[in-house]
Amino acid sequence: MSSRRVTCRTTHHQTFDGQGAGVSETEQLRSSVQKVLARSRARSEALTECVDEKDLTAQHSPLMSPLIWDLAHIGNQEELWLVRDVGGREPVRRDIDELYDAFKHSRSSRPSLPLLSPDEARAYVATVRDKVWDVLDSSPLDGRRLERNGFAFGMVAQHEQQHDETMLATHQLRVGPAVLTAPAPPSSQVPASGEVVFTAGEFSMGTTLDPWALDNERPAHTVHVPAFAIDVAPVTNAQYIEFIDDGGYERAGLWSERGWEHRTTEGLRAPQFWDRDADGSWWRRAFGRTSPVRPDQPVVHVCFFEAEAYARWAGKRLPTEAEWEKAARYDPASGTVRKYPWGDSEPTEIHANLGQRHLEPADVGAYPGGASAHGVQQLIGDVWEWTSSDFEPYPGFEPFPYAEYSEVFLRGDYKVLRGGSFGTDEVACRGTFRNWDHPIRRQIFAGIRCARDVVDV
Ligand code: AVJ
Ligand code: FE
Repeated sequence: MSSRRVTCRTTHHQTFDGQGAGVSETEQLRSSVQKVLARSRARSEALTECVDEKDLTAQHSPLMSPLIWDLAHIGNQEELWLVRDVGGREPVRRDIDELYDAFKHSRSSRPSLPLLSPDEARAYVATVRDKVWDVLDSSPLDGRRLERNGFAFGMVAQHEQQHDETMLATHQLRVGPAVLTAPAPPSSQVPASGEVVFTAGEFSMGTTLDPWALDNERPAHTVHVPAFAIDVAPVTNAQYIEFIDDGGYERAGLWSERGWEHRTTEGLRAPQFWDRDADGSWWRRAFGRTSPVRPDQPVVHVCFFEAEAYARWAGKRLPTEAEWEKAARYDPASGTVRKYPWGDSEPTEIHANLGQRHLEPADVGAYPGGASAHGVQQLIGDVWEWTSSDFEPYPGFEPFPYAEYSEVFLRGDYKVLRGGSFGTDEVACRGTFRNWDHPIRRQIFAGIRCARDVVDV
């Protein structure tokens, strides 16, 4: 990994750090951009170095790209935004733009394209990154909106990390011996059951000021949320097994019409990657290893329709996006909103299970340090949480800087997911972050948190 130093050229806005060395705010930003970009590249490399050439170019599922497509696509987006646009430099490889345009070729057709070989893709992303270091050195990190506060760099780092999470999902689908390792997540520290009640009231949803928030999180706007209750913790495997054992997959009345249709055609019977043995115990396969299903671990690899059916069986429903965000950000003591449930400080290992630090969700109650002002736990990290909301623009939404990030997906057949998973990096995760996917998808690291209506007092 790069241990390169960033040269300091800008000297205005002097502040002083603990060592007494003068470091301007711009230089602090420059060095944090450098760290974030280096971290994402280390992860992309780790995800692509552990398998051989055949594996990198193979299609492990029609839902996914070959791993090597993701790597070159990461480099191509970085070239488009940072080398060409921010840097105003000559293209590195204009000839491959079309190959790595996600809108030109479906995921299932990507293996048959004349893609860069693994060696070529690695050389390409390295060349692009070298130029980006140079662009970063000379960017004022200010001026036009794309460059102000280093937005374009932050966007590119988030893009790389989002594809890293996608590559992690490809690893999960890949059949073969385990190649990824990580320590087990922390165990449960505190009780994590029951629910928290929110009285009816307004809060400020979304953000205008967070410098690296993406277009669909903007702008901040006041939303009135009727009274609701939300569970302290995500739904566990033990709870989900109760649903299965109670005929959850056989009772049409628990499912939406479309959900039941899907459950029937696909023959869904349990979360993806689960198997039941003759004595009735459940096993799950994760990243090439099989282990007993852990009762207190949040259920993962369920689709929206399964999440909806579970919630109905439990006498509850999925939260709306506004409810989820209010639970995650609203601080009733001050009436203000936080960036994360625990406050505005960046996530560390005491707050949340993020960044592929572990290869599975942590048991409920494992992150008391990440609790929200109201005591809701594990909102960030562990599993993405399905909401009942469609992916729609906030009032005042403006596509920025490109329509293909959010705008083309708005009002489509997508449900919003919130909170991030164990495979989400902290740069691509915050209380306002919105993810979305088709309601049938379950290769993503998605689970369930329930909510319900309450009569306001
Ligand atoms: C926001 C995760 C739905 O992976 O399709 C990657 C992120 N956008 N490249 C996706 C994204 C462009 C996007 N999600
Ligand atoms: Fe992309």
